[in-house]
Amino acid sequence: MTTRTSQGILAEENTEKREQIIDLLTKAYWMEIEAVMSYIANSVNPDGLRAQEIVGSLQQDIQEELGHAQQFAARIKELYGVVPGSLEFNAEQSYLQPPDQQTDIVHVIKGVIEAETGAIEHYNRIIEVTDGLDFVTQDMVIAILRDEEGHRRLFEGFLREFEADGLA
Ligand SMILES: [Fe+2]
Ligand SMILES: [Fe+2]
Repeated sequence: MTTRTSQGILAEENTEKREQIIDLLTKAYWMEIEAVMSYIANSVNPDGLRAQEIVGSLQQDIQEELGHAQQFAARIKELYGVVPGSLEFNAEQSYLQPPDQQTDIVHVIKGVIEAETGAIEHYNRIIEVTDGLDFVTQDMVIAILRDEEGHRRLFEGFLREFEADGLA
């Protein structure tokens, strides 16, 4: 007989909650995968002098988001879920599609801010759902949330500069 206190989220009586967490982690996994795709495209497409700082920053973020995807995948497995195959992927980041003009770096900056905001909202939700129940997932997602908050803050700074120069 398993009990909540002895086994936490792995206790039999928490099966339903565990499956809910797996669903949330799966959504997070796809968000990270899509961020990798969008950031690769947006780290290559932009033209112009002003784009170079943004491009360099996105190149770094690609590796971080990929690391996040791998962490979410590992946690899905630890909770007895299965990491989905690529056919289950549905794209959502309409705001991170290439702009009409590849010098339109403000479009990219705003798109990144929107993607990071979506991640921040979803990861705060996971932190709430896991509270008091699945400390391991919660701990992992808190660390990832900090990365996303840092990403957004950096791009908000880029946007501020463009706004100050009357370009955004
Ligand atoms: Fe991420
Ligand atoms: Fe991020």
